[in-house]
Amino acid sequence: MPERTVTALPLVSMNAADPTNTLMDKIVNLCKRRGVIFQSADIYGGFRSTYDYGPIGSLILRNVKDAWWKTMVQVRHDIVGIDAAILSPSAVWEASGHLENFTDPLVDCKECNERFREDQLDDPLSCPACSAKNSFTEARAFNLMFKTHAGPVEGSGHDVYLRPETAQGMFTNFKLVLETSRKKPPFGIAQIGKSFRNEITPGNFVFRTREFEQMEMEFFVPPEQADKWYQYWCDQRMKWYVDLGIPEDQLRLRPHDQDELSHYSSGTSDVEFLFPWGWGELEGIANRGDYDLRQHSEHSGEKLTYFDPDLGEHYFPHVIEPAAGATRSMMAFLLAAYDEETVNGEVRTVLRFDPQIAPYKIAVLPLSKKDTITPLANQVFDLVKERWMTDYDETQNIGKRYRRQDELGTPYCVTIDFETLEDQSVTVRDRDSMKQDRVSIDRLVEYLSERLR
Ligand code: GAP
Repeated sequence: MPERTVTALPLVSMNAADPTNTLMDKIVNLCKRRGVIFQSADIYGGFRSTYDYGPIGSLILRNVKDAWWKTMVQVRHDIVGIDAAILSPSAVWEASGHLENFTDPLVDCKECNERFREDQLDDPLSCPACSAKNSFTEARAFNLMFKTHAGPVEGSGHDVYLRPETAQGMFTNFKLVLETSRKKPPFGIAQIGKSFRNEITPGNFVFRTREFEQMEMEFFVPPEQADKWYQYWCDQRMKWYVDLGIPEDQLRLRPHDQDELSHYSSGTSDVEFLFPWGWGELEGIANRGDYDLRQHSEHSGEKLTYFDPDLGEHYFPHVIEPAAGATRSMMAFLLAAYDEETVNGEVRTVLRFDPQIAPYKIAVLPLSKKDTITPLANQVFDLVKERWMTDYDETQNIGKRYRRQDELGTPYCVTIDFETLEDQSVTVRDRDSMKQDRVSIDRLVEYLSERLR
């Protein structure tokens, strides 16, 4: 049963910078309609700037994280992974400098009482909400960390913090990982996990939220090799996004100006994506020197140096840190994948995900719910489900089911029809070309393996 279409008209590209923000509206709408991302606590009116990942979104987010883990840990013998605690004592954040420095400068408008980040004001003398002039209070430093307490009674225990970055877990565990993993510089420690920041201006959907996921790796190197590895990681990290289907013209590597650099950083570059509102950071790659290990060494009293047996000396390794956002990258993958084309006078929306990012790789679609077809459809589902995340959908007409899978970005739909009963073959439809192939069931896994990574 070939799809009714097939005069594909030229693609309408939705991917250029889009000042009217229609693309964002479409993405937000699709995310809600298809179970990708929901407003958190929706039934209670929603919790602002906080999001839940639905059945489809949790698969996409997992795929982004898995793709990162595979590239950064699985296929390398010089990087190991950890999973550190989210709660940590103030000593960690004192040593890292977050207690003192992880702040935004806040100003209030005395006329309209709106609050702003001073460093984000276009005109520091004019209120963007009510246009009042010289109406701002003195800037106050606002620490972005979420503070809570350990123990049953508030005030009786110790202050603890939700981590604002995963990175410190790699520094505080440096010695233990070094001792237990038999690695030596250059080597890396990687981690994926939730981080929390009490952002003053969250927004742009999941671009900036108070709870988000990071994918960070600290690469410890002999000091004289730091510049070489910094360049290496800038190149590798750009390549990762391109390999997963983000067009090169929607990505750029932006080196920080001297006045943007942290005092300990000798170089930082951001991987930026062309969001509908302009360029935005996906990941920062920083040449952090020995700042972190030295700080934790001084504050904890532990020796966080590496003893080089060839040189016969101890040294603090320097750190190159590629720090990416998983939730923010997922948004970039969604935006880059979104496409519309006109087919037989109707708009077809399709997410052209790389198969690694696609939530389902395959959808099994029995043409009817009749008893004769269902067992065979289940048999086909069983054949592929262990190997690939597969959807099974037997509701609605086949055209609507194809459209749904297009909007989820499913690369291949496998349809079981009445002819299948006769010839033991199924129809495999390609998401992008909508081309259909008839494939015998006993060749199906081989056929799909050739096309899916
Ligand atoms: N350890 C270094 C560090 O955390 P960062 O630039 O503050 O560096 C790294 O964060 C990445 O984490 C960012 O490039 C971004 O992708 C993501 N990120 C940071 N704050 C975020 C937020 N509020 N919401 C979503 N993602 C965020």
